[in-house]
Amino acid sequence: MTTTAELLKTRTVGVCLLGHGIVGSGVVKILTQQREMLRQRTGLNFQIRHVIVRDPTRHSTLAGQLREATISVDATAAIDDPQTQVVLELMGGTTTAADCIQRALKLGKPVITANKSLLSTRGAELFALAKTYKTCIGFEASCGGGVPIVQSLIKGLAANRIDALVGIVNGTCNFILTQMTRLGWTYDAALAEAQKAGFAEADPALDVSGRDAAQKLALLASLAFNVRLGDGEISTEGIDRLQQTDIALAGEMGYVIKLLAIAERAGGSGDSADYLIARVHPTLVHKDDVLAEVGGSFNAISVFGHALGHALFYGRGAGQMPTASAVVSDLIGVALGSTLIEFSNLRIFPDTSPAARLLPFEQLQSRYYLRLSAKDEPGVLAQIALALGQHGISLSAIHQHETDQGQLVPVVITTHLANEGAMQAALRQINALSSIAPPAVLIRIIDQPREFAR
Ligand code: HSE
Repeated sequence: MTTTAELLKTRTVGVCLLGHGIVGSGVVKILTQQREMLRQRTGLNFQIRHVIVRDPTRHSTLAGQLREATISVDATAAIDDPQTQVVLELMGGTTTAADCIQRALKLGKPVITANKSLLSTRGAELFALAKTYKTCIGFEASCGGGVPIVQSLIKGLAANRIDALVGIVNGTCNFILTQMTRLGWTYDAALAEAQKAGFAEADPALDVSGRDAAQKLALLASLAFNVRLGDGEISTEGIDRLQQTDIALAGEMGYVIKLLAIAERAGGSGDSADYLIARVHPTLVHKDDVLAEVGGSFNAISVFGHALGHALFYGRGAGQMPTASAVVSDLIGVALGSTLIEFSNLRIFPDTSPAARLLPFEQLQSRYYLRLSAKDEPGVLAQIALALGQHGISLSAIHQHETDQGQLVPVVITTHLANEGAMQAALRQINALSSIAPPAVLIRIIDQPREFAR
């Protein structure tokens, strides 16, 4: 077992890299091109001893570049090698990756991973295993790309009771929405470009379905609220069914549409303050909101702490070098020993936290954007307003373009704060009206960031 003291004593830190894809090759670039800077800053010499790839014959350039490294398919031998002191799991997936992480941890070797899919489902188990073997897991790169949001929640904001976390945490979706909003690109063209740029997951359905954002929210909310929260518990809706019409109509009303990941205390006092509401969905954000300006593959996470108030963490949330930046930052933390100290002492990781108490999604209080395809004829608006009114929903604005009488026309309604369950019931009633061509489109609106503490 390699202890932190041993790591520091040897001055050379042997690194095993599992995976040489987009992020893995970024890590190689930083560790080779910035070797001297890193040595000066940390007093450590990071040496890549192993790179595990699917087909070593396709990596001859890498072999020339990393003379001291073995490029192979044999992850077991690489992890077991006594010269491997830290294992970087950058292969993705949840089966082989999990086996490799477990193997490394059982040898007492620290693991660094960007694998949000794995950690959001089996994080508690792997964290507990790491503690049993007196080692640690660094996972800064799993959320927010290069933005140091994980370290900030673990340490920087430790003095705060976190009340809410509102984030743009999927670079691919944000890139797609930005191109569609600002440049009028089609969804397909924007997705293809995100794939080409290396932001998207191997299976981009993970991005556009909102699942990737839910996985990141599960991890971030677990740290922020000191709970155990799985991504499967998060109400999730992606951008894959979003229509250009709604981006344009929202724009006319002063909003942009963002895929937001939101976790917040359910409010109230006493017992209800222990509840969380966690969700991922396309959201109308007012143009003046700081999140509205976040474009391209950038991520931004607003955190509301009781002492700090509102803080915004902004930066490149996807792509090779930003994610590699987070991996190397973890590598330094692990090698210096600070990660192990935090990991073994702080009671904020999902293995020691209680299960999250989630408020049912129907109890969400939100403002809404509603687009109906309505026949332009007498009494239609009255019927819609009646259905909303009967469910206690108050209208905030109504927007309709002129058209020929009797034609279908988009009618957009925004509401004041309303209850999700009531809104769904009203929607069923509206969709059943003979003057409406269903289905109506419902998108939630978020108000501008609030300061939770005074
Ligand atoms: N596919 C992810 C994204 C990569 O687009 O944000 C970073 O986790």
